[in-house]
Amino acid sequence: MFNTVSKSLIRETRRSKIARKFVCNLVDRSFHRSSKTCVELTSVRYPDLKRGNYATVTDKDVALFERILPGAARVITDPSELEGANTDWIKNCRGASQLLLKPKTTEDVSAILKVCHERNLAVVPQGGNTGLVGGSVPVFDEVIISTQQMNQITSFDSLSGILVCQAGCILGNLDNYVSEHNYTMPLDLGAKGSCHIGGNLATNAGGVRLLRYGSLHGSVLGLEAVLANGEVLDCLSSLRKDNTGYDVKQIFIGSEGTLGIITKAAILCPQKPEAVNLAFLGVESFSKVLEVFRATKRSLAEILSAYEFMDTETMKVATDNLKLNNPVSDHPYYILIETSGSNSSHDEEKLNQFLETMMESGLVLDGTVAAEKTKIDYIWSIRERIAEGLLHDGYCYKYDVSLPLENFYDLVTDMRTRVGDKATRVVGYGHVGDGNLHLNVTSPQYDTDVMNLIEPFIYDWVSQYKGSISAEHGLGFKKRQFIYHSKSRSAVKVMKNMKTIFDPKGILNPYKTLPDE
Ligand code: FAD
Ligand code: MLT
Ligand code: ZN
Repeated sequence: MFNTVSKSLIRETRRSKIARKFVCNLVDRSFHRSSKTCVELTSVRYPDLKRGNYATVTDKDVALFERILPGAARVITDPSELEGANTDWIKNCRGASQLLLKPKTTEDVSAILKVCHERNLAVVPQGGNTGLVGGSVPVFDEVIISTQQMNQITSFDSLSGILVCQAGCILGNLDNYVSEHNYTMPLDLGAKGSCHIGGNLATNAGGVRLLRYGSLHGSVLGLEAVLANGEVLDCLSSLRKDNTGYDVKQIFIGSEGTLGIITKAAILCPQKPEAVNLAFLGVESFSKVLEVFRATKRSLAEILSAYEFMDTETMKVATDNLKLNNPVSDHPYYILIETSGSNSSHDEEKLNQFLETMMESGLVLDGTVAAEKTKIDYIWSIRERIAEGLLHDGYCYKYDVSLPLENFYDLVTDMRTRVGDKATRVVGYGHVGDGNLHLNVTSPQYDTDVMNLIEPFIYDWVSQYKGSISAEHGLGFKKRQFIYHSKSRSAVKVMKNMKTIFDPKGILNPYKTLPDE
C-alpha cells in the first residue's frame, strides 16, 4: 500500500505562500461570519456574575479619547461596528462595550490607559479576537482597546534573525515578511491569518510547531508593555543572553491582558527550513498513534517539526462539514507528521525509509506523503480548519488540556460515554507530540444540560491525572474558576499579589484568568 503512495511523492522545498494565504483567508471569513450571528450576552448567560465597581463611559470620555486618537475610525461608538469586537470567534461570549479604541503607538496606549486608570474605566485588550476562552471580549461594558492599527515592523536583523515589531502585526504577515529573509516565525497556528503577535504573546500560544521551536517563553527576547496606570514598561531587549535580575517580560507571556497591554516584542526567528515534507497516516488504535510517535522521534529526530493526531470523528468534521477530502482511506485515527530540514534528498530518504518500516511492521495501515506545496497545504488545512468545521454543528464546547500520554485519549472515550446522544459529537485531536489534547463537544445550540455533563467532570478528570486544564488557549473568562484544578493555592495567591502590584485598581481585563475570591 505504501509503495503506491510513495510513487505519488512529489518533491517540493516549501509551502506556497498563496496556498497558505488561502487557509488564512478561510479563517478570516469564518471570523466575519461568526461575528454577525447574535450570541447571548455573557451577562445574561452567567446571571450570578456581578459587574465590578467601575465607571461608565460618558460623552466627555469619548471626546477626550477623540483628542488622544485623532483621525478617522479610531474611536468607535457605532453599535454595528462594535458588534464584531464584542463577540468572540467561537460565538460563546458576547459583551456590551460601547467604545472601541484603536491606538497606533505605544504613546497612544499610554495616554488611553492614563485616562482609564484615572476614571476607573475597565478595559479589555484585543488583538485578532481569535482567542477561544472568552478572554478577548468584554464581559460587561469594558472599553475595548484594539491593536489593529499597531502593525508596524520596527526592525529585522537578517544575521541574528531578531524581529522587533508592534503588537498588532498579524502572525501570517510576519511570517511572510521574515520568510523573504529566509527565516520563519517560531510559532504557527490555524488562526495565523487573523491573530496578532501581541495576542499570541498574551496567550502564550502554542500551535503546531511548539514541538520543534519550543514555547514563546524561549523565543521572545524582549517586550514592551503599558501598565494599567499608563506607565511604559521597557523590557525590549534584543539580547539572547541577559541575566541581569528578574526576567520581568516573562510574566506578560500568558498573562491574557490582565497585567498590561503588550505594545512591542523582540522575537528570535529560526532559519526557514529548505525542505518540508508531510506524511498523513491512518492507524487502527490510539496506542498505535503513540507507538508511531516513539518511532518517529527515534528515526526522524532533528528533522521532526510537527506530530499531530485526529480521530475518525474529527475527520468527519473535515469531510462532512467542510467538504474536504480525506487523503487516505478511512481509519480510526490519523497522524500528521511534518519534517523540516535543510537537505531535501536527505530528509525525503529518511522519511520514506521510516514510513516503509512503519508500513511493513503493520503499525501504519495507510498513508500519503507530500512534498509539493499545494498538497502540503491541503493536508494541513484538514488539521487547521477543524475549529472552523466544528462551528457548523452549532455550539462548540471547547477544551484544551495537557495529559500524560498514557491517559491521553481515555478522556475522549469517557466523555463520549458520559454525554451519550445529548451531544452532536465528541471529537479528539491535537498536538499529541506536546501532550496537548483538544477535546471538543458540539450540540445544535448552547445547552446547560450538556454543559453540566461536561463541567466540572472534565476538570476533575484532568486534575486526577495531574494534567493541565489549559495547555495553550489560556483561562480567559470561561476557565478561570477552575484554576485550582491545575495550580496550587499558594501559586494562585502569588498571581493575585502580582495582579495587585501591576494593576491595583483591577481595570485590566477584569473577570479573566484569576478566579473570584
Ligand atoms: P485575542 O483573541 O484578541 O486575545 C487573546 C487574549 O490576549 C485576550 O485575553 C486579550 O485580552 C489578550 N491580548 C490580546 N492582545 C493583547 C496585547 N497586545 N496585550 C495584552 N493582552 C492582549 N491557540 C493556540 O495556542 N494554538 C493553536 O494551535 C491555536 N489554533 C487556533 C486556530 C483557530 C482557527 C483559532 C480561531 C484559534 C486558535 N488558537 C490557537 C487560539 C488563538 O488564536 C490564540 O490564542 C491567539 O494567540 C490569540 O491571538 P489574538 O491576537 O487573536 O488575541
Ligand atoms: C488547534 O490546534 O486547532 C487550535 O488550538 C484550535 C482548537 O483547539 O480547535
Ligand atoms: Zn491547538
